[in-house]
Amino acid sequence: MRALTNNKEEGRGKKEEGRNKSYPSSSFLLTPPLFNPEGDDSIEHREIWGGNSTGLMNLNNCKFQWAIALYRQMLENFWIPEKVDLSQDANDYKVLTDDEKQAYKGILSYLTFLDSIQARNLPNLSKQITAPEITLCFAVQEFQEVLHNHSYQYILESVIPANERQGVYDFWRSDEILRKRCEFIASIYQDYIDDPTTTKYMRSLLADYLLEGLYFYNGFIFFYVLASRHLCQGTSDVIRYINRDEMTHVNLIQKLLTNAGISSEMLSVDEIQAMFAAAVEYEIKWTNHIIGNRVLGITEASTEEYTKYLANLRLKAIGVPALFEDVRNPYQHLERLADTGAEGNVRADFFEVTVTSYNQSTSLDGDWNF
Ligand SMILES: [Fe+2]
Ligand SMILES: [Fe+2]
Repeated sequence: MRALTNNKEEGRGKKEEGRNKSYPSSSFLLTPPLFNPEGDDSIEHREIWGGNSTGLMNLNNCKFQWAIALYRQMLENFWIPEKVDLSQDANDYKVLTDDEKQAYKGILSYLTFLDSIQARNLPNLSKQITAPEITLCFAVQEFQEVLHNHSYQYILESVIPANERQGVYDFWRSDEILRKRCEFIASIYQDYIDDPTTTKYMRSLLADYLLEGLYFYNGFIFFYVLASRHLCQGTSDVIRYINRDEMTHVNLIQKLLTNAGISSEMLSVDEIQAMFAAAVEYEIKWTNHIIGNRVLGITEASTEEYTKYLANLRLKAIGVPALFEDVRNPYQHLERLADTGAEGNVRADFFEVTVTSYNQSTSLDGDWNF
């Protein structure tokens, strides 16, 4: 797959030749027409960006088989928050320390921000896609992000006292570090919306990768640590379902980044590493702020090591050299929790991009070939 180019003018020139003519990858900044009668949906001419699609969701033959496999996996992950019983969590919450309660609410606040901005920004990334099998994945991802917000609300109303719930949504208003964190994350997406160049699109893709691959996990670890102490295990189950969804999102964005030619001059290895370094710094600062050394099972040192470990993992997955030396996963011992959900059936390897099994949804086994 060729790299995206950085020639906005070339794309515009092609537009002037007529919308129904070819859409080379260099013109991907143009949103493809809704209906393009001159399009060609054949596999030979299908491209992730800048393809000459008719606009139909032509799934008769698909070029990107990985996207079909991923789409099916995402569907099979379907779950409903209310099926997880949180009644014991409300009791457990009352015996948490004040620091743990603050961390519980602060992390929920941050996760709500992440899933909110992700749900709202995905269309800005997906509208340029000209391979319908990849559009499928984006559509399910967008649904899953709003489902995650639904699940946070379910946790709030099930566990948190009524007079404290709105405060979780408003936490960024009074917490300067959270506000700065949110602004940093939003700014990269907003930059592309305000000035849609190829380079800024690529930065948005990388920001999407950082969000999906790096930003959730210290928060998730907090809930797994509580569960390892037999506290709030229902919340941990909900988080595990979310975690498993996020793994498919990481998978999607990894595929897109590697297909886009991330090592081109458009988004250099140096810039990718610099964005990762900044993201790691923000993530550690926020986690130390909201958890620090105040929760049994988590320390500032383990937060730093875990964040750097994840960054290395994600960098290597897209073919970029790791940034940090001598770091390992300090939470490997929590992996046993993958088998101990309240229903005993939520399994996800939350350190790698793999998902093992799941049974809340109806099996989709059978003939369903594209
Ligand atoms: Fe999400
Ligand atoms: Fe996600």
